[in-house]
Amino acid sequence: MRTIIEPFRIKSVEPLRHTTPAERQGHLEAAGFNLFLIDARHILIDLLTDSGTSAMSTEQWAAVMRGDESYAGSESFFRLKRVADALTGFRHMVPTHQGRAAERILFTVMCKPGHLVPSNTHFDTTRANVEYSGARAVDLPIAEARDTQALLDFKGNMDVGGLEALIRAEGAAKIPLVMLTVTNNSGGGQPVSMANIEAVKAVCARHGIPLYLDACRFAENAWFIREREAGYADWTPKQIAQKMFRLADGCTFSAKKDAFANIGGLLCTNDDRVFLEQTNLLILTEGFPTYGGLAGRDLDAIAVGLEEVLDEDYLRYRIASTGYLGRHIADHGVPIVEPPGGHAIYIDAARMLPHIPAAQFPGQALAVELYRHAGIRSVEIGSLMFGEAARHELLRLAIPRRVYTQSHIDYVVEAILEVNGHKESIRGMEILEAPPFLRHFSARMRQL
Ligand code: F0G
Repeated sequence: MRTIIEPFRIKSVEPLRHTTPAERQGHLEAAGFNLFLIDARHILIDLLTDSGTSAMSTEQWAAVMRGDESYAGSESFFRLKRVADALTGFRHMVPTHQGRAAERILFTVMCKPGHLVPSNTHFDTTRANVEYSGARAVDLPIAEARDTQALLDFKGNMDVGGLEALIRAEGAAKIPLVMLTVTNNSGGGQPVSMANIEAVKAVCARHGIPLYLDACRFAENAWFIREREAGYADWTPKQIAQKMFRLADGCTFSAKKDAFANIGGLLCTNDDRVFLEQTNLLILTEGFPTYGGLAGRDLDAIAVGLEEVLDEDYLRYRIASTGYLGRHIADHGVPIVEPPGGHAIYIDAARMLPHIPAAQFPGQALAVELYRHAGIRSVEIGSLMFGEAARHELLRLAIPRRVYTQSHIDYVVEAILEVNGHKESIRGMEILEAPPFLRHFSARMRQL
């Protein structure tokens, strides 16, 4: 059989709510054309993020009931630790309330003003947390990633020569760690090859710099390695993930992605000194090291999710369903970041809307129109999110895990193709007010 079906059936449902175009126009105006500021009840299909939006499984809900809410040394922590240890092999692990909490603690402990933190591409919270510590976040994607249309198996890779040159120019003492984001979210959800992780590790090892993974979507990355990289076709996704983690010296992880949890994160390291300092900071801001800002039941949900996400039927369906959306819009003339990524499809808004300059946020203009037209929420990843550091003007359609069926996605395809049909009428945006950090979350705008 060629048809790939959702490898689950539905036991519990939530209604979707329709709105009229006139109602949506009112919601847009009230929200300053910022889709983060629109109430979820006014959204029909929510592709804002794949983070914390997964449907948990029956086994995860059962695990929630087993949660041990002891303040210290809870059984839930040890169940999570056993799973995380077997998967990652890192010497130390602490839970955090989500990925960015792990980032804040990691960078606070490791970075000082004047430092540089290179990555294949930093995600927005990662970049902001590096820079909040006084260090500078440096993106070193491979040169081919600049071309959204280039068809590469591992377009999320880091430019290893660029890393080597940066270390030579700045000195290893200024670089407290190197990060690799797997998959490369801001770079289009593109995977990083095992060969690239090995090459980056070799450079880091030569200069005595630790390598950390931003491992939010490690399982999706592992699946791409299995499908595309020579030598891994017979490996299980778990074996591939284990090898990825064993090449690194630590990781940050948002359990809201590839652990199907609605909240949670992990911070792992092999460095005893860093671990001690991290734990002190964790107690100050997150909680005791055996719960790290989470309830015991959350730790149990993550423990189960970390194993479920490596299921081959799930990963095959997951990557195929993201590709389904990508192919159906791209084959009808909507420019996407090629090839389709793991958790999301990224429309190249600059290419789709050449009449809107970057300074007028074409990705945001498209997000607004897609909501107005069909009640679909997406997110701009471009100049609104990254300011001058933006490399592309993208609109991301992130797909929550195990939440939407193929007919929902067919609706999304139809809506995007209709918007593409009247794209000349879409107007640019102007910012009216915005905070200094992470402005896309709360900026208010107007349509030009
Ligand atoms: N790193 C990457 C690559 C991410 O995609 C995210 C979150 C984080 C770190 C931070 O994790 O949200 O648990 O604090 N990405 C979400 C997204 C928000 O929509 O892509 P968090």
